[in-house]
Amino acid sequence: FKIEAFQHDLIDWFQKEQRDLPWRQDKDPYKIWVSEIMLQQTKVDTVIPYFNQFIEKFPTLVDLADANEQEVLKAWEGLGYYSRARNLQNAVREVVTSYDSKIPQESKQLALLKGVGPYTKGAILSIAYDIPEPAVDGNVMRVFSRLLMIDHDISKQSVRRLFEQCVSETISQDNPSAFNQGLMELGALICTPKKPSCMLCPVQEHCKAYHNGVQEQLPVKTKK
Ligand code: ADE
Repeated sequence: FKIEAFQHDLIDWFQKEQRDLPWRQDKDPYKIWVSEIMLQQTKVDTVIPYFNQFIEKFPTLVDLADANEQEVLKAWEGLGYYSRARNLQNAVREVVTSYDSKIPQESKQLALLKGVGPYTKGAILSIAYDIPEPAVDGNVMRVFSRLLMIDHDISKQSVRRLFEQCVSETISQDNPSAFNQGLMELGALICTPKKPSCMLCPVQEHCKAYHNGVQEQLPVKTKK
């Protein structure tokens, strides 16, 4: 596996083909955070209008911290999983009181915030701050399971750490943001759960599952 060629092919493709999404307009860590929380259980097309209205209502982290909870929940109405909104506001208030309203760049501090799990933490650090941390969700596990032909069961909690290890060893140190977003974009547009578009894949030549014709058998997933 040629790590540098893979990084180059992935990042190059991402920079050319990425979708124009509202949370990609700038690298404001607050906006990255809001988008990643919304995207966790909700599809991109659904999130877009909610994200835009939410940012219009609460343009900065301090605005969100100062808002009353009912107002925040109202802006979240229709997105579901309302604990995401409550946790987000709780965490944002913690950032105001403990970190001078600046989202920490320290992994351990981020991890202490309500609702910020390993995925969200990695997404904020890599996308907003360009720190080479893995951001592994189901899409990234699917991409990597095919790329390296890993047949561990991705429904298992412990297996996510295995993929985090793989991504840590592969991530571009020069452009962690484009690398992680490239993996997400590849999972969304090309390396899809069913009938992946391997003929259009920018990293086809690096993909072990493709070479063995087993891309549709991966990832292994026992429970939904
Ligand atoms: N899914 C999760 N995070 C995403 C992002 N930043 N862009 C597009 N899809 C995503």
